[in-house]
Amino acid sequence: MSGILKRYSMRSGKVHDESCTWDKCGVKVVFAVCVTLLCIGLILIIVFETQRAGPAPKPWKQFRLPDTLIPVHYDVEVQADLTTFDLIGRVDISVRCATPTSYVILHSSEQEIDRNSAPTVRGSDGRNAPTVTSWFLFPENEFLVLELSENLKEGELYIVTINFNGAVRAALNGFYRSSYVNEQGQTRYLGITDFQPQDARKAYPCFDEPAFKATFNVTVVHQPEYTALSNMPRESTEIRGGGWVADKFQKMIRMPTYLLAFGVSDFDSIGSNTSTGIETRIWARPEYIAAGMGDFGLDVANRVVVYFEDYFGVPFPLPKIDHIALPDFNSGAMENWGLITYRETRLLYDTNAPSAEVRKATARIIAHELAHMWFGNLVTMEWWDGTWLNEGFASYIQYKGLDFVDPGMNVMEHFAYDRSQSVMVDDSLTSSNPVYRPITTADDVTQVFGSIIYSKGASILRMLENFIGEETFKKALKNYLSKNAYGNAVQDQLWAELTTAAREDGQTDLDVKAVMDTWTVQMGYPVVNMTRDYTRGTAEVAQQHFLVDSAATVSVPSELGYRWYIPLTYLTQANLANSPVQTWMAPDEGTKVITLQGASANEFVLANINHAGFYRVNYDPTNWQLLADHLNSDAFEDIPADNRGTLVDDAFNLARAGMLDLTTAMSMTQYLVRDRHFIPWSMALRATGYIENVVGSVTEISNLWQPYMRQLISPFYEDVGWTLQEGDYNTEVGQVEALSTACKYGNGRCVNNATMMFDQWMNTNNNSHIPERLKSTVYCTAIKHGGNLEWDFAWQEYLSAEASEQTLLISALACTQDIDILNTYLERSQDDSLVRRQNGPLVVRYIGRNSVGKSVAWSFLRDNWDFYFDTYDGTSFTMTGIVEDVTSQFSTQEDLDELETFLAAHPNQGTATQAFSQAVENTQANIRWRRDNEDKLRTWLQAQA
Ligand SMILES: *[C@@H]1O[C@H](CO)[C@@H](O)[C@H](O)[C@H]1NC(C)=O
Ligand SMILES: *[C@@H]1O[C@H](CO)[C@@H](O)[C@H](O)[C@H]1NC(C)=O
Ligand SMILES: *[C@@H]1O[C@H](CO)[C@@H](O)[C@H](O)[C@H]1NC(C)=O
Ligand SMILES: *[C@@H]1O[C@H](CO)[C@@H](O)[C@H](O)[C@H]1NC(C)=O
Ligand SMILES: *[C@@H]1O[C@H](CO)[C@@H](O)[C@H](O)[C@H]1NC(C)=O
Ligand SMILES: [Zn+2]
Repeated sequence: MSGILKRYSMRSGKVHDESCTWDKCGVKVVFAVCVTLLCIGLILIIVFETQRAGPAPKPWKQFRLPDTLIPVHYDVEVQADLTTFDLIGRVDISVRCATPTSYVILHSSEQEIDRNSAPTVRGSDGRNAPTVTSWFLFPENEFLVLELSENLKEGELYIVTINFNGAVRAALNGFYRSSYVNEQGQTRYLGITDFQPQDARKAYPCFDEPAFKATFNVTVVHQPEYTALSNMPRESTEIRGGGWVADKFQKMIRMPTYLLAFGVSDFDSIGSNTSTGIETRIWARPEYIAAGMGDFGLDVANRVVVYFEDYFGVPFPLPKIDHIALPDFNSGAMENWGLITYRETRLLYDTNAPSAEVRKATARIIAHELAHMWFGNLVTMEWWDGTWLNEGFASYIQYKGLDFVDPGMNVMEHFAYDRSQSVMVDDSLTSSNPVYRPITTADDVTQVFGSIIYSKGASILRMLENFIGEETFKKALKNYLSKNAYGNAVQDQLWAELTTAAREDGQTDLDVKAVMDTWTVQMGYPVVNMTRDYTRGTAEVAQQHFLVDSAATVSVPSELGYRWYIPLTYLTQANLANSPVQTWMAPDEGTKVITLQGASANEFVLANINHAGFYRVNYDPTNWQLLADHLNSDAFEDIPADNRGTLVDDAFNLARAGMLDLTTAMSMTQYLVRDRHFIPWSMALRATGYIENVVGSVTEISNLWQPYMRQLISPFYEDVGWTLQEGDYNTEVGQVEALSTACKYGNGRCVNNATMMFDQWMNTNNNSHIPERLKSTVYCTAIKHGGNLEWDFAWQEYLSAEASEQTLLISALACTQDIDILNTYLERSQDDSLVRRQNGPLVVRYIGRNSVGKSVAWSFLRDNWDFYFDTYDGTSFTMTGIVEDVTSQFSTQEDLDELETFLAAHPNQGTATQAFSQAVENTQANIRWRRDNEDKLRTWLQAQA
């Protein structure tokens, strides 16, 4: 046995014994024997394992569930203890076997599967079934795997029973807890679900993929002082031992797991029935309901449901819809079928603090969630790669609901500002993504919920409706929804319905799939160059992929070559009142010559009317000049408000990409001195915000920039003053915009007035003299120009304020210019007894955007990365927002080095991966922009001063 220790000496050519006696190398012998035994053991285990699992790969190692079993019904029972936060549950899942298998694989996360009553499988109707021989959790894929004694039989129905224990979670997903302090000063708890996309499995074991639709019987067992809610109305109540109350709900129709919802609270409600017989209720803290804060939402919800029933041509299938306002909620709202959940500030509206903006935001989100009742709930995407269809549709159709509720608001005119403008910036990076995005990991699923699917999705659907026509669009939607009701669908099914409808309506050569694929399966969008021939009355048009950083290279290839089917619309100056002329630009067409109907040489041409198309337009210098001249004339309002904003926005982004001279872009802002409409102003401020981000902290430029912007806004400010302007939405919001802008750029009278109003609050402890809609301007201005006194006062107010006032203050507190205070604020924001968990990240974001907050916010995020990663990484919205805002002012080589050092030290960025790629790309572009434009900007501003 010592042979294994012999060495062969090549030199002597004979076996050389290293005189290995037991004394000298007994340890080596033992070691060698052990190694051998270990190897044999390992081989045996491997052989055994391979045989056990058969030649097929272990199905739990794949991210997607196998399709061997199809769930058809869930009986879910949970007992939620709001004192101990223990959760005890049981689920009976009826599954049909589609392919024989000896495994039951489903999702389960953060649950303890009861060891004393292990999972079982039985045949339905008492028939025989294989026994569960063992079971285990596979955490990488959040799977629970049951191994059976033999195969389940194809076509048979089985019932899988799982008993589990969990918690009413502290994190804001799965079934989680929230709390509030009532009027008697007691802390009251509530429990509520939030599942989309992958958190249903944290509340109950289930087949947690959107195509596995099933029916649900839900029973919620709770303490007697609470009320339980779920998707359906309550069917029966039973009192159990220990004082527990078991509420059983009516059977829920087929839906995916992520739409299940249940809640336990001591909330009150108000309700009424729609004209079509659906019961609507608004639930909130009792004192909020008593104060009438649910009334506005109730009215909107009732009207919008009826409108959508008619618009979609499919009646709402459930008897009721509850809307519940939660003190803690991760996103804005969630469309659980029949039980919609919201942040308090998104659903409630205080009529004693009227604000048109809050009214719009409230109505808009209610309309969004209600649109999902059809798009998403009735017809669901096959897989998360199609999430854009749900979110894009809800984000577009919500405008129709809003327009129906408040036609005077003219909301379609807001669309370019609300939806397209920001996402066009995101989508002009090489690190962007297509709206239709392949999804292969859990992080992919979370990261898909970003501006691209919501805002670009909505924008391209609007473009589609514009070229196909309103009636054809609606007809196709109706067909799509009724054909796929209670099922799942992919985008090609929608394109097919649209093509059919278009052909029926006379557009015989339109192939909707061919057009829309160019907008959905590749990222980005085009810029259209329009170069006029002034003598011939024609224009050459050509497209190219618009990249904000012209030096960037696209590393992801596209089969469509980053070319688009573009519905190019335009009007000539003399015909602005007419409906736009439309011409198609095909992907394979090079430069194309179009005849501009009725364009004379001294008149401008305006393209992309109402910004209905998801593309930018670059004109020749003469046409830019003609547009600027017209804007600078009394007739500037001939150009629609959204197009005035778009002209400024396109000009600045083209300049940023090096496709237009910065001075041309700057000259497009000069006309703003005339404009009194909030849309072009808001769009222009956002477009020029880029410059402030990049050079806002360069004092000598900032000292020229501030007075330039101030002189543009001052006439608007003087017109509206501080006396509340009543009237339509635009008047009201216009005043808010004028005041906040004038104060922001340091208009002395504006700052004095704001400060005085704030002082009066500090002196009297009463802020009823500050109108709700002007509060954010007053608070931010006074805190920005004030010191510790103002800040401490606002902080104390924050601690005791109700939700909507807290929302205002949390943002205003970040306006201070004092670095020490900002640091204190950041530290306090991590303490959830001071700042609610849902709001903590907002503090970091607001400070990241403050012109003195750049390095404060970055250092803090860098040093506290683990805290944010551990606390918030479940949601991409939260992480993306933090990273975007904190890096928004990065524009130097040192910034880039910081970023790269950080990324090297943190190779796993979780749901912030995409946001960090964008931050790197943006920083590089900003560095180049400064190199090429800083001097030009300084010279131009000096010439204006
Ligand atoms: C679910 O509840 C309904 C009543 O709402 C009941 O008729 C049915 O038997 C329950 N179970 C199943 C599996 O449907
Ligand atoms: C609404 O209709 C339901 C029946 O669907 C009825 O029980 C309820 O009383 C009605 N509510 C109101 C406020 O009319
Ligand atoms: C569009 O115009 C820009 C700026 O003049 C130029 O750089 C670009 O090559 C043009 N693209 C096409 C496709 O003509
Ligand atoms: C502040 O605004 C109020 C309301 O418009 C006005 O009465 C007051 O004169 C203003 N004060 C200053 C200092 O501008
Ligand atoms: C605040 O002032 C208003 C009007 O001056 C008054 O009606 C209100 O009662 C005061 N509120 C408190 C809490 O003192
Ligand atoms: Zn949505």
